[in-house]
Amino acid sequence: MKTLIAPSILSADFANLQRDIEMLNGSEADWIHVDVMDGVFVPNLSLGIPVIKAIKKHANKPLDVHLMIVSPDNYLQVFKNAGADILTVHYEGCTHLHRTIHAIKDLGMQAGVAINPHTPVNVLQDIVAEIDLVLIMSVNPGFGGQKFIEATHQKVKYLRQLIKTKKSKAKIEVDGGVDLKNAPALVKEGVNVLVAGNTVFGSKNPSETISLLKNGK
Ligand code: DX5
Ligand code: ZN
Repeated sequence: MKTLIAPSILSADFANLQRDIEMLNGSEADWIHVDVMDGVFVPNLSLGIPVIKAIKKHANKPLDVHLMIVSPDNYLQVFKNAGADILTVHYEGCTHLHRTIHAIKDLGMQAGVAINPHTPVNVLQDIVAEIDLVLIMSVNPGFGGQKFIEATHQKVKYLRQLIKTKKSKAKIEVDGGVDLKNAPALVKEGVNVLVAGNTVFGSKNPSETISLLKNGK
């Protein structure tokens, strides 16, 4: 399977959101990554439901919604209604992760679990067979444009092995500091989905950068 590219809208120009979404529609991007921050789980606030609805109105690609919020259970239906196709919650933010995952699936969305850089992949051993996606944070969540944490490479390898052992169909997504230099190694190690904010929207030709990420060897 070809690597999926999920540009992060956090780095888009929010005053020209429709323009940037139309650029993504016409590009080789596969998903649109949407970062939701609550100022509690992470030390930053980003965007909420009205903005997701506005993105959905123009996007012709699935919305990959990454919740960096505490107690996401109260809002699963709300995100579904806003247009989320893939909904990812943090392992560190869910006391009853199994219940949360199944609630997401019951609503007809794909369910993802994200882990912070300090969280080992083996905490997912009893849930990995039931989820569609594991998101490995390769920076501490909260901000775009941060430096990639090199230990992520090893985590990807462990996770690839765990997925195999547990006969899971989960995709591996890496989020944070992904660029044209580290992308090929990540793909080789078994990453299926690359999130990229600054690398895409900070480049001269974002659409071409998406193609380079997708087709990089
Ligand atoms: C960080 C977010 C990321 C961020 C990635 O908390 O989860 O999705 O937008 O941005 P870059 O690619 O610039 O590190
Ligand atoms: Zn994200």
